[in-house]
Amino acid sequence: MAKPQKRYVCQQCGSVSSKWAGQCADCGDWNTLVEDAGAVVTPFSARHNLQSGGRPILLSGLDTAIALPDRLKTDIAELDRALGGGFVEGSATLIGGDPGIGKSTLLLQAAAKLALAGKSVAYVSGEEAADQVRLRARRLGLGNAPVQLAAATSVRDILTTFGGSSAPDLLIIDSIQTMHSDLIEGAPGTVSQVRASSGELIRFAKERGTAVVLVGHVTKDGSIAGPRVLEHMVDTVLAFEGERSHQYRILRAVKNRFGGTDEIGVFAMESEGLSEVSNPSSLFLTSRDENVTGTVVFPALEGTRPVLVEVQALTVRLASGATPRRAVVGWDSGRLAMILAVLEARCGLAFATAEVYLNIAGGYRVTDPAADLAVAAALVSALSERPVPSDAIVFGEIALSGEVRPVAHGALRLKEAGKLGFSRALAPASQAEGGAIKLSGFKDLPRFVDYMLGR
Ligand code: TYD
Ligand code: MG
Repeated sequence: MAKPQKRYVCQQCGSVSSKWAGQCADCGDWNTLVEDAGAVVTPFSARHNLQSGGRPILLSGLDTAIALPDRLKTDIAELDRALGGGFVEGSATLIGGDPGIGKSTLLLQAAAKLALAGKSVAYVSGEEAADQVRLRARRLGLGNAPVQLAAATSVRDILTTFGGSSAPDLLIIDSIQTMHSDLIEGAPGTVSQVRASSGELIRFAKERGTAVVLVGHVTKDGSIAGPRVLEHMVDTVLAFEGERSHQYRILRAVKNRFGGTDEIGVFAMESEGLSEVSNPSSLFLTSRDENVTGTVVFPALEGTRPVLVEVQALTVRLASGATPRRAVVGWDSGRLAMILAVLEARCGLAFATAEVYLNIAGGYRVTDPAADLAVAAALVSALSERPVPSDAIVFGEIALSGEVRPVAHGALRLKEAGKLGFSRALAPASQAEGGAIKLSGFKDLPRFVDYMLGR
């Protein structure tokens, strides 16, 4: 008989190892390995022959007719967009995000919309008392929506309640880390409990055709099991992101068995809940003035959706030989150092004696190297006190050689800028033509700097 063997399970990603370690070898998180008691490891036996005794499975071609899944459209366009058209009946969706980012608010709003449209919707909260949820619904102006509300944490109780003839169209579980399955031991929030509870709820979804939505908190310290252990079990994973100190939130499809993963939904958290932002560029562009130096508009991409953001730079001359500060918000500081080095070495601009501050407006984070040229433009504009034309957008990747390289999805970026009234783009020379927008192409950074300085 196989003898029980100690094993350790990472509470963040669920990987199993036979030895304890401070850092998980798979996901790299610290202090997340926890002993999993009583596990029996059955050694694989080569004597089992699996090539007979089963039933033949049915095979069919790729061209067989398909039935498209029925969807529950929430009429919150930004949510439907991220889902690829609404919640799919009989599917499981996981919405992950930091605590307090707005997951419960979003789902309560979606639940109310669907309930008002005549769907049967149940919202089970394991975190807040029913009255708390009710109060929030009232504050959001949704107090009269016929949502079935309950506070519960036992998966058996929940499935018994909805298991009869009363399976709802949409069942929201907020959050999966508070749920408890009595099929296995362990406290709520551990990997094994989160897995078992989800497994039961997902099976319910498939059997009864209910769209089940699981809320999953993401914690950095791994004190509760992260949603990553569930990603392979559910059909759709949405990540709800944003800075808590800023208004905007981005809902991103990370995985979608029923649609693409390049769509995002953009929301703003307001006092009456989450409002849809159908034109995200307006959120990130501060009011534009003709003569401000150091500000440049950059067409960023979220998936395949362009979002115009403002890059701001400020330089302060230092009198003495003190080490100048470089401070960056919303961009990579290593990349800033690189752009500064290229500007110094290839274009002869002196940043070494200046403090440099770089900021992406609105709390947005840019990781796209296409922003290089916009950052360079903001820096040169700040240093030289010459404004970048306010009707222009700037994009392009900068190589260490000073070459300005073309970037992906140039046409999409130009189109969005055209829609928002920009008439010029300062871009790589080899970028394709921009339709309504006039394109000024630059082969390398020295030529771009000459243009900026009017030389
Ligand atoms: P919540 O949906 O509870 O977050 P999560 O479920 O992801 O933990 O959102 C909580 C935050 O949202 C809280 O800090 C307050 C803020 N908020 C608003 O600003 N306006 C609102 O109308 C609501 C309901 C919440
Ligand atoms: Mg919540």
